[in-house]
Amino acid sequence: MRPIRLFFERFSEQYFPDCFKEYAELLTWDSYWHTILDSSNPPFWKWFVGGRLNACYNCVDRHLATRHNEAALIWVPEPEGETTQAITYQELYQQVNEFAAVLREFCGVETGDRVTFHLPMVPQLPVAMLACARLGAIHSEVFGGFSGAACGDRAADATSHVLVTMDGYYRNGQLVDHKAKADEAVATAHERGHEIDKVLVWRRHPGSYGSQSPMVEGRDFFVDELLAEQRGKVVDPVSMPAEAPLFLMYTSGTTARPKGCQHSTGGYLAYVAGTSKYYQDIHPDDTYWCCADIGWITGHSYIVYGPLALGTTSVMYEGAPAYPDPGRVWRIAERLGVSIFHTAPTTIRMLRKLGPDEPGKYHYRFKHMTTVGEPIEPEVWRWYYETAGKREAAIVDTWWQTENGGFLGSTLPALQPMKPGSCGPGVLGIYPVIYDEDGNTVEAGSGQAGNICIRNPWPGIFQTIWGQPERFVETYYQKYCRDPESKDWHDWPYFAGDGAVQAADGYFRILGRVDDVINVAGHRLGTKELESASLTVEEIAEAAAVPVVDELRGRAVEMYVSLKPGLKPSKDIEDRVAQAIDREIGKIARPKNVWVVTDMPKTRSGKIMRRVIASISNFGDVGDVSTLANPEIVDDIRHHIQSDK
Ligand code: PRX
Repeated sequence: MRPIRLFFERFSEQYFPDCFKEYAELLTWDSYWHTILDSSNPPFWKWFVGGRLNACYNCVDRHLATRHNEAALIWVPEPEGETTQAITYQELYQQVNEFAAVLREFCGVETGDRVTFHLPMVPQLPVAMLACARLGAIHSEVFGGFSGAACGDRAADATSHVLVTMDGYYRNGQLVDHKAKADEAVATAHERGHEIDKVLVWRRHPGSYGSQSPMVEGRDFFVDELLAEQRGKVVDPVSMPAEAPLFLMYTSGTTARPKGCQHSTGGYLAYVAGTSKYYQDIHPDDTYWCCADIGWITGHSYIVYGPLALGTTSVMYEGAPAYPDPGRVWRIAERLGVSIFHTAPTTIRMLRKLGPDEPGKYHYRFKHMTTVGEPIEPEVWRWYYETAGKREAAIVDTWWQTENGGFLGSTLPALQPMKPGSCGPGVLGIYPVIYDEDGNTVEAGSGQAGNICIRNPWPGIFQTIWGQPERFVETYYQKYCRDPESKDWHDWPYFAGDGAVQAADGYFRILGRVDDVINVAGHRLGTKELESASLTVEEIAEAAAVPVVDELRGRAVEMYVSLKPGLKPSKDIEDRVAQAIDREIGKIARPKNVWVVTDMPKTRSGKIMRRVIASISNFGDVGDVSTLANPEIVDDIRHHIQSDK
C-alpha cells in the first residue's frame, strides 16, 4: 500500500496538472493521452489529449471478468409490495447493448448525435445513458419533475430527434402519468422550429400501458417491443477521443434560455472516478446509496458514472424519501446493508422534521455520509451525524455545481476534521480563492465574504455551454480574467457564482448564489425563467422572482407581479401565475406566494430591484431606498404583504 500522506501530497500545486494522472489511471484507455492538459486556447481547456476510451466500457464491460454476477444497480421501487431489483454487471451489459442496438438500428442514432431523455428514477435511465455512451452519442437527461415544455425547450436547444420517456412512475403513492409530458415536449420543440421524430416509451409495468396519452402512430414506440427485435445483440463500444462530449446537463442561469453544460468523456469520467474513490471512499464491496435524482448532476456523477466506473453497487430509489412514512429511507438502508449514504440537506431537513427518532429504530451502519447541494445548517448537520449516522459515520459536505462535473470543496473523510456548516478546503487538485469585486484576494480568516473562484482548470470542468461559447466565457471567466489575450491558465480563474467566507483554517463556508439563481431544495431555478413563465399570463405586465427563507426547502420562490393598466388584482390571476410556472418549468418551481403589487421598486434607469423586494419579503426592512426612482412603493408592498401574511 502506498503511504497516504505521500499520495495526497502529489496533488499539491507544484505537481499540477500531472497530479490528475492519478485519476485518469483509474480508467481503462484504448490509447493513452500524450498531453495531460492543453491550455493553449483559454478557457477551452482540453484534458488527456490524444487519449481514447469508451465510458460505457469503463462502467460495465471491464468489470465483467471479475464481477459479472455482482449487482451494479439495486433498484428499489416506491410501492413496498413490489420487489427490489438487483441488476448484475452481466445483466446491465446485456440491457445496455440491446438498448444501444435499438438506438442505432431503429432510431439511426450515430456517434455525436444528441438524445434527450425525460426519465424518472428507474433503472432504464442508467441503461439509456450507458447505451448512448457506448455509441459515442451525447445524452441529455431532463429531470423527470420538469414540465413537458421545459423538456421540449431543452430537446430543441440540443437538436435531439429522439426523446426517451416512460409511461408513468410512482411518487408519493400515485402512478404519475408521465408520457403526457412527451406530447407537450414534442409540441414545444415544434414551436421552437425543431422536430422530435421518435418518442421511445418504456413501460413501468411491461405489457401494460399506464398513461392516458395515446401513442402516436409512427412517432411513439414501446421500448419493450423494440427490444424484442434486438434480443442478445452486442454493439461494440465506440472508442472516443477523451475530449468528445459525453453528455449535456441543462441548468439555469441569468437569462431565460437554460444552459446546456457540455461534459467531456475522459476528463469527466476520470474526475468522477477519482472523487468517488477518495471522497466517497467507495470500495467494490460497499453498498452505496446516493439518495438523489439522476436527473441532476449529482445523480449522473455519483449514482451512475463514478460508482460504476469503480465497479461498486449503486442503489437507486424510485420514490419520495418519506413515503409511506418517514422511516422509509432507513428501512431501505437496513434491508440493503447500505454502508455509504449520500443526500441533500433538503431531504435531511424533511426526515428530521417528520421522523426525528426514526433512524434509531433500524439496524443499519453507515461508515460514511455525504451532503450536497445547499448549505446545511449546523443543527441539521448535527442531527445527520448523531441520529442518522449514529455517531459512527464520517460526514463530507461537498460543494460543487452542475458545471463542475464533481466535487470542488470537501474534507477527506476521516482524514481531515469535519466542521458543521462548512464544506472544508478545496479537494485534491482544486485551488479555490475568494476575490472581492475588484479581484483582490480576500485573506483566509479575515471574516470578509467574497466571490469564490477556482484558480486552476480541472478535468471535470464542463467544456462549454452547448451552442453558446460566448456565454460560457462571459459567465464563468470574464469577471476575473486578468488578460483576455493570455494563454496562461493562471490568468483565467473560474467564477463559480457563489458567495463564501474562508476561515483561518482554510475551510470555506458557502453562503449561496450571488447571481440571478434561486436554489430551491437543491434545485437551481433562474429568476428570468420564472419571470418569463409568469409573463405568459396575459394580464401580467411585469414580474420579479425572489428567494425567501423556507424551513424545509432552504429557499423558496415568491413571485411579485404587476398588472397591465386598468386591471384589478384577483385570486384567479395569482393562481394562473402559479399554474403557468408549473406548466413552463415544473411543480418544483411552484411559488410559495404570488403577490400582485401596483408597481415594482426600480432604479432610475427602470431596472427592477429584486434585492429590495427580497429584503421586504424576508426581513420587512430594506435600509436606504433613496436611490430608487419610486421609493414610496416599498411601503406599499410591505403593507400589502404584511396584511396578507
Ligand atoms: O450555491 C451552490 C449550491 O448549489 C449550487 C449548484 O447547484 P447545482 O448546479 O444544481 O448543483 C448541485 C449539486 C452539485 C452552488 O452554486 N451548493 C452546492 N453544494 C453546496 C452548495 N451550497 C452550500 N454547500 C454545499 N455543499
